[in-house]
Amino acid sequence: METPTATPDAQLLAAARRAAGRAYAPYSSFSVGAAALAPSGAVTLGCNVENAAYGETICAERNAVTTLVADREPGEAPALEAVAVVGLKANPCWPCGACRQVLREFGCRRVVVEGPDGEALSVPFEEILPHSFGPEALEGR
Ligand code: THU
Repeated sequence: METPTATPDAQLLAAARRAAGRAYAPYSSFSVGAAALAPSGAVTLGCNVENAAYGETICAERNAVTTLVADREPGEAPALEAVAVVGLKANPCWPCGACRQVLREFGCRRVVVEGPDGEALSVPFEEILPHSFGPEALEGR
């Protein structure tokens, strides 16, 4: 169930909204921003970056996550506590299927989106991508 939450998630959404303001989306005019939160408290931002060869577009969430991985401390396992997503023309803006799978890779625990009144909704990842395929499936192969 989606659960309205207080300030920290609201701050994460505010960061995602700032990132959405930097989107490069000349083809869709659909600006998206994401803020990825690591268990350490580190936050990285991403926005969608489109391309004239449309298929080369990269979503906001994947840009935020790849930066989180690149910016982590040496020896720190890449992990995600939460990812907040804001679409300037969609409320809520849910992550696409490809992004859900990438969030899954790093054990994302929650996705935070804006509800109809702009409130933070925290959704457990199991509801975002149930019965998912992940790294554990490849253990012992
Ligand atoms: N987009 C994202 O950035 N994240 C999503 O999860 C959904 C879609 C972007 C991709 C494209 O630039 C635009 O939104 C329209 O699909």
